[in-house]
Amino acid sequence: MTSPFTDADKQYVLHPFTPLTPHQENGPFVITRGEGIYVWDDEGRQYIEGMSGLWCTSLGFSEPRLVEAARQQLETLPFSHMFTHRATEPAIELSEQLVKLAPAGIARAFLVNSGSEAVDTALKMAWYYWNSQGQPKKKKFISRRRAYHGVTIAAGSVTALPYVQDGFDLPAIAAVHCETPHYYRYAKDGESEAQFVARLAEELEAQILAEGADSIAAFIAEPVMGAGGAMTPPAGYFEAIQAVLQKHDILFIADEVICGFGRTGNMFGSQTYNITPDLMTCAKQLSSAYLPIGAVLVSEKLYKGFVSMSDKLGMFGTGNTYGGHPVAAAVAVETLKIYQERDTIAHVRRVSEPFLQRLHALGEHPLIGNTRGVGLIAGIEIVKDKASKAQYPVADKMAARVMAAARAEGLIVRAVPGDSIAICPPLIISEEEIHSLFDRLTRALDKVHSTL
Ligand SMILES: Cc1ncc(COP(=O)(O)O)c(C=O)c1O
Repeated sequence: MTSPFTDADKQYVLHPFTPLTPHQENGPFVITRGEGIYVWDDEGRQYIEGMSGLWCTSLGFSEPRLVEAARQQLETLPFSHMFTHRATEPAIELSEQLVKLAPAGIARAFLVNSGSEAVDTALKMAWYYWNSQGQPKKKKFISRRRAYHGVTIAAGSVTALPYVQDGFDLPAIAAVHCETPHYYRYAKDGESEAQFVARLAEELEAQILAEGADSIAAFIAEPVMGAGGAMTPPAGYFEAIQAVLQKHDILFIADEVICGFGRTGNMFGSQTYNITPDLMTCAKQLSSAYLPIGAVLVSEKLYKGFVSMSDKLGMFGTGNTYGGHPVAAAVAVETLKIYQERDTIAHVRRVSEPFLQRLHALGEHPLIGNTRGVGLIAGIEIVKDKASKAQYPVADKMAARVMAAARAEGLIVRAVPGDSIAICPPLIISEEEIHSLFDRLTRALDKVHSTL
């Protein structure tokens, strides 16, 4: 039976990232329960949650240990904060775990409540650091076109997607955008992958010189680009980019909100792609999304700058009421324990093989021009003509049609920019469930193709 809340939804709810008029006609897609990698809607239909919600429920929808961790903490201390020297044991334990898991050079963890908040805070921290170094002119940020870094004023400014920015007067802080490292779509005719990488590094350097290196605070990048199109970087890309940034004394912010905690087959995407970040932003899989929590991880170099600035100003003047919330922190600590005890990363590496094999086999499908993936995250790109890579007109909404057809087959995937489909299942997915996911997706693609 349809949820009794459907009419109330249409009357009272303002939905994020939703076209508002069609929503009034179609109503909400109400999810009522979940178990393992599956969720059920209000009419009792079962779906494979092939997007882990929003790239986040790594441990699936029924992990009793996370429920128990939240319950125990709620009973012991449901709230306390981290301002003015105060602390809680779960927040301290989580910070220690995060620093120990992070790539070399990371020294401190600052806890927040979401990915956008983590990114906003990291951008502020970059300014604070340069001010501490007597370089107050270093204010601009560089991000890649099609980047998604969140929606708050600063995070939404380094995001480089029209559907996030238009109408909201973004970018609202100085953000410069460079080329998307998606070889299939943006390489020039005849350009090898290595030549493409070299060109992107040269273009970045030219952009830095044109803007003035002394005006640029930081470069921000997702190791694998998610919401902008589920795109993996070409080999050698991050090494080439980092060399340019180091040469011009520009900080590197790794936005690990999707990639962090096993998604790419390592604890962090930075480890998969040899990134040495000055700042890292985390959220989502940090708590398997059971409660909202995020973190900014800070290098020793930046931390020292913060200390000198705090000494000068009298305090490190930023924070949020719920940053390091003890219940969310306790759930995150338990999540990290589960990753370690069950060796979730080894599992991801194991099942990534059939996952990528089935993914790349879709490259033979008449609708698919490109497949890309790493670990348990992937994108497929729909084309009208494989030889020329020409796409269908935007009005045909091909990716949205595939997404709808997949839903009818009992699979949730997401249409993302570039007429692409993103696939990002819970990390607990089994090999058998991976085959079921791709069987459903193939049937959806066949159905859409048969209507053309
Ligand atoms: C890479 C990245 N950064 C930041 C964010 C923003 O996170 P939140 O939605 O928790 O604000 C997202 C969300 O999808 C993301 O994918």
